[in-house]
Amino acid sequence: MLENKNILIGITGGIAAYKICNLIRLYKKSGANVRVVVTPNALNFVTKLTLQTLSGNEVYVDNFEIDEYKPEHIALTESDIFVIAPASANTIGKLTNGICDNLLLSTACAFARPILIVPAMNENMWNNKFVQENMTKLKTAGYEVLEPASGFLACGVNGIGRMREVEDIFEKTVAMFSQKQILKGKKILITAGGTREKIDPVRYITNSSSGKMGIALADNAYKMGADVTLISTFGVEKPYRNIVTPTALEMEKAVKENLSAKDCVIMSAAVSDYRVENVSEQKIKKQGGELNLKLVENPDILKEICQERINLASHQEAVAPLEGEMSKGQRGVNIKPYVVVGFCAESENLIENAKAKIQKKGCDYLIANDISRKDIGFNSNENEVYIIDKSLNIKHIEKDTKENIAKRILEEIFE
Ligand code: CTP
Repeated sequence: MLENKNILIGITGGIAAYKICNLIRLYKKSGANVRVVVTPNALNFVTKLTLQTLSGNEVYVDNFEIDEYKPEHIALTESDIFVIAPASANTIGKLTNGICDNLLLSTACAFARPILIVPAMNENMWNNKFVQENMTKLKTAGYEVLEPASGFLACGVNGIGRMREVEDIFEKTVAMFSQKQILKGKKILITAGGTREKIDPVRYITNSSSGKMGIALADNAYKMGADVTLISTFGVEKPYRNIVTPTALEMEKAVKENLSAKDCVIMSAAVSDYRVENVSEQKIKKQGGELNLKLVENPDILKEICQERINLASHQEAVAPLEGEMSKGQRGVNIKPYVVVGFCAESENLIENAKAKIQKKGCDYLIANDISRKDIGFNSNENEVYIIDKSLNIKHIEKDTKENIAKRILEEIFE
């Protein structure tokens, strides 16, 4: 299953270090090349000779132990995956703060391919507020994490903190390799979140969209190898590009500016259809009686980019034979026919309205959500959708986590 994969294992100082001997054997039996880097403290729990014998390779400990300095951490980054197990609270804390005071940490800092973190520690350490904050940081930065299990801990108590079994680590590694890179080389622009239309410096009009579906799409597209640009109404810390645009007009501008050379645009943001015409520069004071706000229509970003695609294609047809390529004057847009995916939120007649909407907007796919249901959609971690294509074929994706729904949507569209 792991034939010719280059796996780098990082072992830190914890009693679970001895279990990694079995993990090395599982990887080797499965055809992988294994190299091991350890922190100096790991060698208090397992010997260098054991790791060297099992992996069949030199074991790396320190940047400066050799006579002639070689940037080993850079050579080690050429591996396909870095599995840090057991990962101690100390290493996790340093990793999340960019500290590189040993070879394992320098390697992790320079590692551009997938990293799997498998923590193991005492229950109180695991529950420590800073450790938990660091775990959140790792996950939001795109690291894969295999959370510890509950059970008997080496410190003599039963609790959470036990390193997951080596078989689980092995399975997780296989799963990470089998993540299909169907979007490798593709540039994708995704919008997410509900826009906030200002009334005055402290108030705004918004909607119930949490942005979770758009972020799940961006995360999955990134894992599938895409070059992702996420334009969202609030900022997120992710390993891909994120542009923050709270209002519909800002989002429209950012989408158009970033459309160039994209293979696909997914408009999952809940863009407000209206904005306040005259935003007050000062906080509006209560004056008694009514307050009237005049709302004006926002641009329909989805419809505009679909229209722009048609305009550019017909323009290219007209000028291409003469000029060979588009002149810079035409906004420098690379006009390959990007795929456009829209979303639609409906509280009644879902399919009927969705079919009408895909034709009105002119996109290639429309993902339809039923917002009348309380168990899915807005603010929920789960969703259930219908994918409608421009020939009005319908594919139902059953209720699942937004993560899995996002994966299914991308697979359906790109496979
Ligand atoms: N959309 C957009 N710009 C807008 C409104 C919506 O780009 N001003 C996009 C959304 O990102 C979504 C799709 O259009 O991909 C459908 O959004 P939805 O709110 O369901 O539809 P509306 O166009 O607002 O139509 P209606 O209000 O009539 O349901």
